[in-house]
Amino acid sequence: MQRETSNRVHLTSWLQVREAFRSKELRQAGYSEGAVVMADTLLDLHGKAHRERRRLENRLFRREIFSYWEHEILGRTIDVTLSPFIQKGKADLAVIGYRCAMNLTATIAGIDQDPAEAEQTETLYAIVKKFSEGATLLHSTRDKDEVRQEVKKAMNQFAISFYTPSRDRREQLIHDVNEGDRDKNDLPKDVLTTLLINREKLNLSDEIIFREICFYLQAGAHSTANAFIHTVDNIFSWGDQYPLDLDLARKDLSFVQRCMHESLRLHPASPVALRRAMEDIELSDGTLLAEGVEVTLDLIEANRDSKVFGETSEMYDPYREIQEGIPRWGMSFGAGTHACVGAELDGGLEINPDRPASETLFGTVAIMTHALLSAGARRDPDNPPRHDPSSERKHFSNYPVVF
Ligand code: HEM
Repeated sequence: MQRETSNRVHLTSWLQVREAFRSKELRQAGYSEGAVVMADTLLDLHGKAHRERRRLENRLFRREIFSYWEHEILGRTIDVTLSPFIQKGKADLAVIGYRCAMNLTATIAGIDQDPAEAEQTETLYAIVKKFSEGATLLHSTRDKDEVRQEVKKAMNQFAISFYTPSRDRREQLIHDVNEGDRDKNDLPKDVLTTLLINREKLNLSDEIIFREICFYLQAGAHSTANAFIHTVDNIFSWGDQYPLDLDLARKDLSFVQRCMHESLRLHPASPVALRRAMEDIELSDGTLLAEGVEVTLDLIEANRDSKVFGETSEMYDPYREIQEGIPRWGMSFGAGTHACVGAELDGGLEINPDRPASETLFGTVAIMTHALLSAGARRDPDNPPRHDPSSERKHFSNYPVVF
């Protein structure tokens, strides 16, 4: 199915959206409004330039690294973040989600930051929230120039307080390796170090490296935090109907992962992806995309396509039967050349009862959710959750819980 205006086409069926994601003749078009933080970042690149940078950054997004993170790092980050709130007996999921997700992403991006330093975490949290507002400017209901000014200010603050010290430390480590004073394996395995080592080969300016790191922080933190809040919200609502399943979620991480995938299907962090046709294209079903046309890939509708997810596709059902070859989370991690590099890190590996426990990855979001639920969290009966009024995207700005 598609809706058409003169220079726009809106694709909504599963097959069309998947084909469009995979088409090499459609280029990214979603981030020109947010160029202040998104210009020349991986998500914004096309063709050879994208392939080369992606090949380089992909080296970091390997299962061994995810496994190390999930088993060695994430637990401490969650403990440090959650403990003060559990002691107080109440929390806001938006704050917990952003803090945990941000520490994860900072480690991967290459920003030195200690999750135990609450004030530092708070400052980075505010900065990264502003980057997200910049990246999703297309969907903002605020004055766009005003937002751009705020984003620039946040980028300056980030450069001084976080980026420059982290970059200088890495430059020094790289220098030590080049001088033979240090082993190559001692270098941090993060995006910033990788880009600094390869800056000449890929012709990367200081500005591009800086924006790529700003982009990574918001790409990881924003979507992880949103997926976390939706996962918890859906489990609470499902638990109102099926209390035994809420008990199960408090105990069983693999059930939480199943719930997370279903939430992600219904609430993709990016509800749409935008592309522009670089030449005339005909999709398999005969839909024509003329050169220059702007194409909206509607993830919400594609993820609810009843031909793929059945008659109950609009409903939340963690026990949903899924056809072979279709991801449980739908198209929420994208597909094709720009498919999300953090998909396995956040969503874990496809649920497969035959996989040995030692090789299972549940994903950051399920682990965060499980930690929260096993600490006894429930909705705050006196403070209902609220949606973000400054975005057309259905994000929660506040979600109070009590323990
Ligand atoms: C639930 C969490 C997440 C969701 C739903 C999500 C979703 C997406 C989607 C839909 C895209 C493709 C956008 C497009 O084609 O226009 C994407 C790309 C990307 N994501 Fe994620 N993401 C998540 C977590 C992460 C994390 C944790 C990281 C990094 C630490 C990350 C880094 C990236 C990067 C670098 C790209 C660009 C890939 C490229 O252009 O080649 N994402 N993500």
